[in-house]
Amino acid sequence: MKTIAIINLKGGVGKSVTTVNLAERLAARGYSVLVGDLDKQANTTKFFHLLDYDRPSMSDILKETAGIHDILGRCVFKTPGSTLTIDVLPANMTLLAANREVLLDMLHPQQNRLRAALQPLRTLYDAVLLDCPPDLDIGSINALCAADRVIVPVDCDEWASDGLDVMLEQIRAVRDGFNPELRLLGVLITKYLRTNHNARVAKELARRDVPLLTTVIRQTVKVKESIAAHKPLALYDAGCTAAQDYDALADEVILKTGMPAAQHKEEN
Ligand SMILES: Nc1ncnc2c1ncn2[C@@H]1O[C@H](COP(=O)(O)OP(=O)(O)O)[C@@H](O)[C@H]1O
Ligand SMILES: [Mg+2]
Repeated sequence: MKTIAIINLKGGVGKSVTTVNLAERLAARGYSVLVGDLDKQANTTKFFHLLDYDRPSMSDILKETAGIHDILGRCVFKTPGSTLTIDVLPANMTLLAANREVLLDMLHPQQNRLRAALQPLRTLYDAVLLDCPPDLDIGSINALCAADRVIVPVDCDEWASDGLDVMLEQIRAVRDGFNPELRLLGVLITKYLRTNHNARVAKELARRDVPLLTTVIRQTVKVKESIAAHKPLALYDAGCTAAQDYDALADEVILKTGMPAAQHKEEN
C-alpha cells in the first residue's frame, strides 16, 4: 500500500481535483484505491456524494471514537465498458471541532491516529490518497504521519511559491519527528496556461531546489464542469487536456512510488 498526502498551505491550488482524478486514474488501471478527506470543506467528500452528518466520519478517526470500517464509504462509477470503485473516508465540518479536541487531548498521542487506523488496511488497498486542508492542523499532521509520499500542488500564479518553504520545512519536521519514511514525491504544477507569465513561474519553480513532477496539469474549463457533474475528468471528457494530464500523472506516480503492476488493466 502506497499512501500519498496531497497538501499545500494554499487553498484553490487543485489539491482536491488532483485527489479525485488521480484516484480515478489509478482505479482505472486496476489498483484498489482509498481516498481520505482531511478537509472540513469536504469538497472531495461532496464530489463523491458522501457528505453525511448522520454517520461517523474522519473526525471520529482523529478522535478515536470510530474505526475505519464505521466510516468507510464507497463511490461507484459505471461506464459502458466497466465499473469503477473508489472507497472514501469522508469528512465534514465536524473536523473543525475535532481538530481542536484532539489538540487538547494531551493524554494520548495525537499525530499517529490516522496511521494506526489505516494499518489494518495495508493488504486491502494499493493506494491511499489523503486530501488535506490548506492548513497545518492536526488532520494534516496525521496525514503526513500516515503517508509515504507527498504531492504538493501549486498553481501557476505570481504567488506559486508562497508557503512552499514552510510546507517543505513541515514535511521535513514530520519526517524527522514521526515518520522517517516520508518523502516529497514532488511539486505538481496545476492550472497551467500557455502564457509567458505561467512559463516564467514554472521556470522559476524548476530552478528551485525541490523535486518538480514532470507532469503539468493544464487549465481547462472542463475541470469545473466535471466537478459540477460529479464525474472524474476521464469519465466527463477523456479527450480534454487536464484528463490527459491526470492520466500522465498516474503513470508518473506509479513509476516514482514503485507501485507494483495492477492486477487487471483498463478496459479500452
Ligand atoms: N486544471 C484546472 N483547470 C481549471 N480549473 C481548475 C483546475 N484545477 C483546479 N481548478 C479549479 O480550481 C478550484 C480549486 O480547486 P481545488 O482542487 O478545489 O483546490 P484545493 O483543493 O487546493 O482548494 C476549483 O474550482 C477547480 O474547479
Ligand atoms: Mg480541497
